[in-house]
Amino acid sequence: MADGVDVVVTVCATVSTGLESVAVSECRQKLDCKSIREGRGRVYFDIPTNFFSQLKNLRSIENLFVVVKEYEENNDELDCFSPEILEKLYKLPQALDWKVALSLWKQFTGYTGMLFRSETSAHAEDMKKRCQSSVDNKCSEVKDEQNSREGGNDKVVDEEDVIEAPAKKIKHGGEDSNEDKSELTQNSSSDKSFTSNLLPQFRVTCTRTGNKHSFSSPEAAAKFGGGINDWFGWRVNLSNPDIEVLLNIVNGNVVIGIALTKESRGKRNITHFGPTTLKSSIAYCMLQLANIQPGDIVCDPMCGGGSIPIEAALNWPKSAHFCGDHHDLAPTRTLANVQSVTEQQLNNKKTLPLDIYQWDVCNLPLKSNSVDVFITDLPFGKKSGSKHENWTLYPKALEEMARVCSTGSGRAVLLTQDKRVMGKVLNSSVHWKKDLTLWINMGGLKAGLYVLSRTKKC
Ligand SMILES: C[S@@+](CC[C@H](N)C(=O)[O-])C[C@H]1O[C@@H](n2cnc3c(N)ncnc32)[C@H](O)[C@@H]1O
Repeated sequence: MADGVDVVVTVCATVSTGLESVAVSECRQKLDCKSIREGRGRVYFDIPTNFFSQLKNLRSIENLFVVVKEYEENNDELDCFSPEILEKLYKLPQALDWKVALSLWKQFTGYTGMLFRSETSAHAEDMKKRCQSSVDNKCSEVKDEQNSREGGNDKVVDEEDVIEAPAKKIKHGGEDSNEDKSELTQNSSSDKSFTSNLLPQFRVTCTRTGNKHSFSSPEAAAKFGGGINDWFGWRVNLSNPDIEVLLNIVNGNVVIGIALTKESRGKRNITHFGPTTLKSSIAYCMLQLANIQPGDIVCDPMCGGGSIPIEAALNWPKSAHFCGDHHDLAPTRTLANVQSVTEQQLNNKKTLPLDIYQWDVCNLPLKSNSVDVFITDLPFGKKSGSKHENWTLYPKALEEMARVCSTGSGRAVLLTQDKRVMGKVLNSSVHWKKDLTLWINMGGLKAGLYVLSRTKKC
């Protein structure tokens, strides 16, 4: 990045499909975004590089990547439907400008290693010089060690200054004598392995939508990865790479990016998982939709391991939070998650203000008109409960929540995959008015997210 110049980069954030609009409003609220575009399960926005660290404040999103290059549909440079597309993908890494994206990736992830061969050659050259001078001076091993300690840090060329071509391959044949050739080859291969050991390991992940392509996602990933390996000298590591390069192809549109997140931020608050643990990113979106105000009393009456109330207490500290569940294991699991959040995220300096109860949602130990917001994810009837039980549970639970919720001003945000039962109960309820329904994708299944207001009816 050039000093003093306000560089703008495009970032892509992934979000559970159906919740893109919530992610867009969070990006607008928290970042100085230039423009925001919605895709399926994705949100793209342009952000000045000096605001980059604010990306860490986003809660509705799951993964983040910085865009290296986007080729729009029907572009002349990269035609996904051409028979030569795989060859083009192989050559593409050398044509791209990776500089800004890689520098931001380093900054965001805190990676301290080298990225380019030029840095490693400078490092190798420095090492060689030091060895040579120690031989010339006939220094003892002890003195040599001392020298290297006194010599301070190895010289590292700033990656911002250099994007260099791959090292020349040494060809067999040609003008060199046989002796020279073997020496060159030997030096070259040991130099190469020394160099490549200092460089990061990477993986290409290709996601592809469209049925007119003549290639598969693994083929595209392999070709593009081969090109990266040859151009940068980075080694492939599919299971635990330092850098994940993303190749997203949707018909003729191609986006190349570098992942900023190693694992989904959806798991951020939970260390003790239950059978139906909700992603914290979805919990955050539900809470956003509830329009929580300072002073509101917020309750998750079927909290499981506590994804929703923990996210609520972390992000809405000016409201009061409590939760409960009827299962014997749920309150202890929630407590364990609260304790690990307190240790890991709050450094034991604060406690998370959240009360946890064991109770039956159909018979809450709470007086009428006492809660402003109910927010919960109900048993879907698959991993938790049964479809049959839902016919009794849902109407009773919704009526009990209506009793406890403030008439005329209270809200509820409910999530379920059991759309049949929920639809039927809401249609016949005089206490709940449906303001919005979002259909979201949860592990390949469609779930309904219902935003409700408590009517004035007693
Ligand atoms: C889909 S899970 C909630 C998962 C939770 N959001 C999490 O992240 O762990 C539904 C929860 O409802 C609870 N539940 C079912 N019937 C209940 C009842 N009558 N009263 C209270 N909780 C109930 C179950 O024990 C289960 O923990």
